[in-house]
Amino acid sequence: MPTSAILKVDDKEYPFPVIEGTEGEKAIDTRTLRATTGLISYDQGYGNTGSCESQITYLDGDKGILRHRGYPIDQLAQYSEFVETAYLIIYGELPNPKQRKEFGQLLRRNAPVEMQAQKILEGFPTNASPMAMLSAMVAALPAYHPELAANNFEKDLKTFDLAAGMAISKIRTMVAMIYRYTHGLPFVFPKQELPFCDNFLHMMFSEPYQDYIPVPEVSKALNLVLLLHADHEQNCSTSTVRMVASSQANLFTSMSAAISALSGPLHGGANVAVMQMLQQIHDDGDDGSRFIEAAKSGKKGSRLMGFGHAVYRNFDPRAKIVGAACDTLLKRLGIDDPLLAIAKHLEEAALRDDYFISRKLYPNVDFYSGIIMRAIGIPMSMFTTMFAIGRAPGYIANWHEVASDPKGRIYRPRQIYQGKLAREYVPMALRGEK
Ligand code: SDX
Repeated sequence: MPTSAILKVDDKEYPFPVIEGTEGEKAIDTRTLRATTGLISYDQGYGNTGSCESQITYLDGDKGILRHRGYPIDQLAQYSEFVETAYLIIYGELPNPKQRKEFGQLLRRNAPVEMQAQKILEGFPTNASPMAMLSAMVAALPAYHPELAANNFEKDLKTFDLAAGMAISKIRTMVAMIYRYTHGLPFVFPKQELPFCDNFLHMMFSEPYQDYIPVPEVSKALNLVLLLHADHEQNCSTSTVRMVASSQANLFTSMSAAISALSGPLHGGANVAVMQMLQQIHDDGDDGSRFIEAAKSGKKGSRLMGFGHAVYRNFDPRAKIVGAACDTLLKRLGIDDPLLAIAKHLEEAALRDDYFISRKLYPNVDFYSGIIMRAIGIPMSMFTTMFAIGRAPGYIANWHEVASDPKGRIYRPRQIYQGKLAREYVPMALRGEK
C-alpha cells in the first residue's frame, strides 16, 4: 500500500505523499510539484489527473461500478426515482418522507419559467440548437433571480436550496418550452399537481383541449432515463461546472457552461449520434456489419457511437439497465422499432470482435437511451437536452462541493508552450507581400 512516491529527476529524488480515497483509489499528491521541482506534469485531457476530492459519485471503470453517495446504480434504478435520486446526489442521504415531500413541493413551486425567458427563445431561429437555447435560458436565470446569484460563495450558499430546486425544475420546463418553440407549438404551462416527469410530459405533449396523460410505464421509463444520467463523476461537463464555479460564479452560470460542454457529439451529443448511426444503417439496408468494419478503421468520423468510454473498460452499468428498459417499454407500447434490432445486432457483433474486445470498448449509456426516448415520443433533436435535465443534480452537487470547500482555489492549469521564441515587432512597411 504505497503511502509515498519518489520522483527521480536526473540524479535528484523528490518525495511526494500518496493520498487514498475511501474506496482505495490512490493518487500522488503533486500540489507541490512545481514549487519543489520546477517541473509541471503534462496530462492532455486529464485522463490521469485527479482535479478534486469528491464524495458524490464513485465509479470503477475496470469493474463497471457506479455508485451515488454509496448506493449502487442498479439499486437506485430498481427502487428509486429521479427526484429522490436527485435529492440523494445533492444532499448526500436518501430523503425521509418529510424531506421527499418538501423537495417535491419545492420543485412543483418552481416549475414555471419567467415569461421574459420566452423572448430569449424567440431570439433564436426555430432550427437553432436546442442545447444553445437551453444554455442561454439557464444563463439568464441570474437576471431574474439576482438574490440567488450573487457570485459570492458565502451569500450563494445561504440560498442554495432554493437555487438548486429552481435549477432542476426550471431546466425541465425550459426543455419542454424549447420543444414546443422549435416545433411551432404553443407553450403548455406546468400543472403544480403533477409529479416531475408527468409534468414534463404534460408540457411536452398536451394540446389546448387535450391533456396528455402518460401510461405509467412511460413515466417510469422517463424517470429511469433521467435517473441514469443524474451524475457521473468528473466527466467533461461536470468538470466544466467545477472550473467555472471555482471563479465564484453562481450555480446557474456554472450550469449554463456545463450545458454547452455537454452538447458535444463525444459527450452528451452522442445519444443523437447513435440514433443517426442506427438510422443510417437501417436506411442502407445494412445489418451493421459494414458499419462495424468502418468503425474499426479508427477514423474519428466513423466511430461506433454509443460505444467506448473515457473511463469504463467494462460495460457501462447504465447501458445494461437502459437496454433492458427498452425491451420492457417497447413491448408494453407495442412498438417494433427496427433500430432496436439493429442496435442489438451491433452490440452482439462488436462484443465478439477483437477490435472492440482488445480496446475494451463496450456500449455506454448513450447506446440505447435514444431508442427509449424515441419510444416515449421525444424527437432526436431534444435527446441531448434530456441528458441535461438528468445531469442537473450532478452539476448542482459538484457546484456545492466547490462553493463549500474552505481550501478551494480557482482552477488554473498550466501548459507547455510550443510557440515561437521571442522576436522583434516588424512594421507593416517591412512585411513584404506575402
Ligand atoms: C458520455 O465521461 C463520462 O462519464 C461521459 C458520460 C457521462 O455520463 O457523463 O459517460 C457520457 O459522454 C458517454 C460517451 C459518449 N460518447 C460516444 O459514445 C462517442 C463514441 N465514443 C468515443 O468517441 C470514445 O470512446 C470516447 C470519446 C467516449 C472515449 O474516448 P477515449 O477514452 O479518449 O478513447 P480513445 O479516443 O483514446 O480511443 C482508444 C482507442 C482508439 O483506437 P487506437 O488509436 O487505440 O487504435 O479506441 C478506439 C480509438 O480509435 N475507439 C473507438 C471508439 N472509441 C474509441 N473505435 C471505434 N468506435 C468507438 N466508439
